[in-house]
Amino acid sequence: MLKGKKILIGITGSIAAYKIPLLVRLLVKEGAEVKILLSHEAHDFVTPLTLSTLSGNPVFTDFFEDNTGEWTSHVELGNWADLYLIAPVTANTLGKMANGLADNLLVATYLAAKCPVFYAPAMDLDMYKHPSTERNIEVLNSFGNRIIKPASGELASGLYGEGRMEEPEKIIDILSGFFKKKQDFTGKKVLISAGPTYEAIDPVRFIGNHSSGKMGYAIAEEFADRGASVELISGPVNIHLDRNDVHITKVTSAEEMRDACLKAFPSVDIAVMAAAVADYTPDNVAKEKIKKKDNSLVIDLKPTTDILAELGKRKNKKQILVGFALETENELKNALDKLHKKNLDLIVLNSLKDKGAGFGFDTNKIRLIDKNGESTEYDLKSKKEVAKDILDKINYIQINNR
Ligand code: CTP
Repeated sequence: MLKGKKILIGITGSIAAYKIPLLVRLLVKEGAEVKILLSHEAHDFVTPLTLSTLSGNPVFTDFFEDNTGEWTSHVELGNWADLYLIAPVTANTLGKMANGLADNLLVATYLAAKCPVFYAPAMDLDMYKHPSTERNIEVLNSFGNRIIKPASGELASGLYGEGRMEEPEKIIDILSGFFKKKQDFTGKKVLISAGPTYEAIDPVRFIGNHSSGKMGYAIAEEFADRGASVELISGPVNIHLDRNDVHITKVTSAEEMRDACLKAFPSVDIAVMAAAVADYTPDNVAKEKIKKKDNSLVIDLKPTTDILAELGKRKNKKQILVGFALETENELKNALDKLHKKNLDLIVLNSLKDKGAGFGFDTNKIRLIDKNGESTEYDLKSKKEVAKDILDKINYIQINNR
């Protein structure tokens, strides 16, 4: 997968730099072409001679060569690369990248590069967990840069915790995986809703549903894998998504989900509403716990906002809006009605009549119907595979401007 790929590596001043010569050797063995940028501080940990010998290319640090006055173009290097890997990246360089402080060749090249950027932090655990580092990582992720998360273990300081740069073999796996994947949503911003909503009845009770959130989360991961920057608005679920390239906003009620979706929608290219939003919510939430009585209890419900329909009203010509329909009868007709009524580009139809489809399962069986009425039926598949089918169809719509 790495054969013929042009990989630019930026090395900053961390003890983890000792791992990079091995990484370069492995990349070259895989057939990749490697060029290296070394910050001044990184010279204390690894030598240009080692790196130029292993990569077969000169190693760059400064904009100008002292002896010859020759200029090293950060723009040219940025354009040359198929991928820019900054590893190890220190807290200091993270801060520069997040804020556009191009005071060295390595960061100037980062700003000029049009290719995908990966970065592998290496630092002490307290530095890694500092709010400023966390904020910088969030900023870089919002730029679409991909973090190679540090592993936990013994750190150079003797402390134990998160902060150890990933091993070269693991980095090779991540980069190979990246080139294997289609990157058809690079540069796209995507909004996804997932999971159920809980509508409070009183301080201890709510009306909810059995949505597990698995389908929406699988779609979010697939978009992130294929290069999109993802905003996931999630109701209460039992899924722990441990990746920094999906930004999650956790909500509880339909109203909170509506507010979060409406806020994010204007700046996205694609929105997929996979959440099972409550259609009704209690008219009044009791302030105190409702006491048991002998007679029956009536709770007045009022309708919630149909978020998907609301987005359909606000949608501009370039945005692609995708909804779900969970039906138990007249599936196709009901789905088509929803598609038109809510101004969608695509609807994903689940029928509860299909075994293994719907809430709670790891599998799903869907039919996709686009706004021109074109309908495709799929086999029962894992939700991960279903997510791929949905994204392939969305990509078809975006390419063909349908
Ligand atoms: N949806 C939404 N906001 C709501 C209700 C539904 O955004 N308040 C979205 C869901 O995320 C899904 C789609 O609308 O993408 C369809 O939901 P579904 O419950 O199947 O349809 P409804 O329009 O609510 O109609 P009904 O329940 O009558 O079938």
